Amino acid sequence: MSVLSCRGLRKEFSGHVVLDGLDLDVAEHEVVALIGASGSGKSTLLRCVNLLEEIDDGTIHLDGEHITDPRVNPDRVRQRIGIVFQSYNLFPHMTVLDNVTLAPRRVHRRERAAAEAQARELLARVGLAEKAGAYPDRLSGGQQQRVAIVRALVNSPRLMLLDEVTSALDPELVGEVLTMIRDLKAQGMTMVLATHEMGFARQVADRVCFLDGGKVIEQGPPEQVFATPTHPRTRQFLHRIIEAGRL
Ligand SMILES: Nc1ncnc2c1ncn2[C@@H]1O[C@H](COP(=O)(O)OP(=O)(O)OP(=O)(O)O)[C@@H](O)[C@H]1O
Ligand SMILES: [Mg+2]
Repeated sequence: MSVLSCRGLRKEFSGHVVLDGLDLDVAEHEVVALIGASGSGKSTLLRCVNLLEEIDDGTIHLDGEHITDPRVNPDRVRQRIGIVFQSYNLFPHMTVLDNVTLAPRRVHRRERAAAEAQARELLARVGLAEKAGAYPDRLSGGQQQRVAIVRALVNSPRLMLLDEVTSALDPELVGEVLTMIRDLKAQGMTMVLATHEMGFARQVADRVCFLDGGKVIEQGPPEQVFATPTHPRTRQFLHRIIEAGRL
């Protein structure tokens, strides 16, 4: 059974159709990269999956549960999905540890000590143990993004959604975030990521999905989609990427 299953997703913003009958399935432990032109709906799709946007038609199932059923409590669904954005969105007035434990303390009303112990363990695993007491402005961009990923991991999510998580980073800091995502993949985390960096998609994704006209119009293993795209729109897109020196 799929961890994530989207059927016939439709999303429009005041008459502008962004998702137009989109289907997407993601298997357990699978890493799927969403690629496509700016404005093709990658972020919108991730936000719909996390119930940050209400869809206009279609269904989304998480572990077989129909999460776009209006009777479903969105907070309960969001606890099972970790989401990380391009901008790290850490609270500047809170330490790394408080940033990471805010959600578990609030949503789960768990014991503070238990939440902190888990947070420290996760931070240690990504080499940030000694930064627990630091404020975000004392961290590099790469470190801040790794903290943001740790924060998304504290609920032990079933699914991680990563939206352009490396694009705000200086090139030399991209590597450490990439390593962290590769480690997550090795641990079996199911992930959907949107990216403009084809190198990133090639390195971590099991499958690449090309979005165009509100649908996934081509998909397959990265080697296949990048080397022998079959759809003319995919070819055109990749051609532009190659011209920009990003493939
Ligand atoms: N809240 C919103 N209100 C109105 N229009 C929106 C909203 N969010 C997204 N859009 C529009 O939906 C379309 C898809 O945007 P989206 O951010 O999903 O694209 P994207 O594929 O993530 O692009 P990028 O690669 O630049 O991140 C765009 O035309 C955008 O302007
Ligand atoms: Mg986007």
